[in-house]
Amino acid sequence: MARAVLVTALCYFRRMDLFEENNRHIEIAEGAQLLGGFATAAAPLLLENVATIATQAPFRHLLTPGGHTMSVAMTNCGRLGWISDRKGYRYTATDPSTGKPWPAMPAAWFDLAQRAAAAGGFKRFTPDACLINRYSPGAKMSLHQDKDEKDQTAPIVSVSLGLPAVFQFGGLSRQDPVQKHRLQHGDVVVWGGPARLAYHGILPLKEGHHPLTGASRINLTFRQAQ
Ligand code: SIN
Ligand code: FE2
Repeated sequence: MARAVLVTALCYFRRMDLFEENNRHIEIAEGAQLLGGFATAAAPLLLENVATIATQAPFRHLLTPGGHTMSVAMTNCGRLGWISDRKGYRYTATDPSTGKPWPAMPAAWFDLAQRAAAAGGFKRFTPDACLINRYSPGAKMSLHQDKDEKDQTAPIVSVSLGLPAVFQFGGLSRQDPVQKHRLQHGDVVVWGGPARLAYHGILPLKEGHHPLTGASRINLTFRQAQ
C-alpha cells in the first residue's frame, strides 16, 4: 500500500516536472523571454511550410561582407528577406538567387509570431520578414546583434525546431558576459525593449537525430524590418 502511494506520488511529480519543462517561461533579461514549448503544437505544420518555401527559395550559404561563407544555410519568407554578401547585410524584396519575390509568410506563421510576441510582453507585433536558418552538425552563429531593421521598437521572435542547440545571450556590448540556454524543439525566444540589441549567437550544433528534422535544426527568426 505504502509502496503504491509512493509510486503514484512519484509519477505525479514526474508528470508535473514534464509539464513544467514543456511550459517553462523564463525571463532571460529585462525584455527577453524564453517561452518553452510555445511552438511545439505548430511545429509539424511549420516544418511542412519550410519544405515548401525551400522549393521556391532554396537554402543557400551566404557570404559575409568579409568574404567568409556562413556555416548556417538560409532562406526567407515574407515581404522582405535578410541577406548578406560582399556589399553588406540588408533586407531585399526579391531573392537574389531567383530574382523573384520571397515566398509569402504563411498566415499561421504571422499569427504564431504575434501570439509569441504578446506572450513575451510585446503587443501589435507585425513581422514583415522571416529569416529561416538551417543548422547541420558543426554549424554555428557567432555573437551578433540584429540591427538591420528600421524600427527597433519591435521585438525579435525566434522559433527553434528540430535538434537542440545552445543559445548564447549577452548584453548590449560584445564584451558583456553571456548566458547559455538550451533551446529545444518548439521553444520560442522573444527579445525587445531594453534587450532588443542584445548580442546573441548559437554554439556549434551537436550531432543528433530528430524525428521531424533528421540531423538538423531549423530556426525561424521573425522581424519587423521596415
Ligand atoms: C539568429 O540570431 O538569426 C539565429 C538564432 C538561432 O538560430 O536561434
Ligand atoms: Fe540574430
